[in-house]
Amino acid sequence: MLLSATHPGWFEVASRSLPALLSDHLHCERKAAENALSLVRRYSYDTQASLALSRLAHEETSHVIQVAELLAAQGTPPRADSPNLYTRALLDEVRKEEPRRRLDALLVAALIEARSHERLTLLEHGFAATGQSNLARLYGALASAEDRHAELYCTLAARVISQSEATCRLESLAAREAEILAGLPWRSRIH
Ligand SMILES: [Fe+2]
Ligand SMILES: [Fe+2]
Repeated sequence: MLLSATHPGWFEVASRSLPALLSDHLHCERKAAENALSLVRRYSYDTQASLALSRLAHEETSHVIQVAELLAAQGTPPRADSPNLYTRALLDEVRKEEPRRRLDALLVAALIEARSHERLTLLEHGFAATGQSNLARLYGALASAEDRHAELYCTLAARVISQSEATCRLESLAAREAEILAGLPWRSRIH
């Protein structure tokens, strides 16, 4: 789904400040839950999608709890949220008229989940290599969930119009996603 791969050197930069990374991650998980529930609110007539997205939001909330517990165990209060330039730029690609608005919202969510899966996997491997096994275990578990979420969003997107139109739009949004990410500096954040 993704058209670019994160450079392996990213881990070293991302993990320089663990409190900053974990705080950003906490807010990413919260926003993933909120975004899923906002789709439930906007398209509540679609019972099947609403149920799947409610379950997804429930799982994202459990991720919020896991990251919050880790921060609490370290005695680190979460930092305030700061603007996520990556997500904002991607959301700017969502078209205004239905049903394209819904299609794009689902595909953008799929790409964010796919990128989260990639980055959390890099964190899993990086923390394993540096002997931080509790962090490696957490990131391994969360990464596989984000991969499933990406697939779910793609499946829901194909139901909005057609598989072929969803695939075509996904390709164009994936190109934009790679472009946006390439223009952002590396920091102690997930994106
Ligand atoms: Fe998550
Ligand atoms: Fe997710």
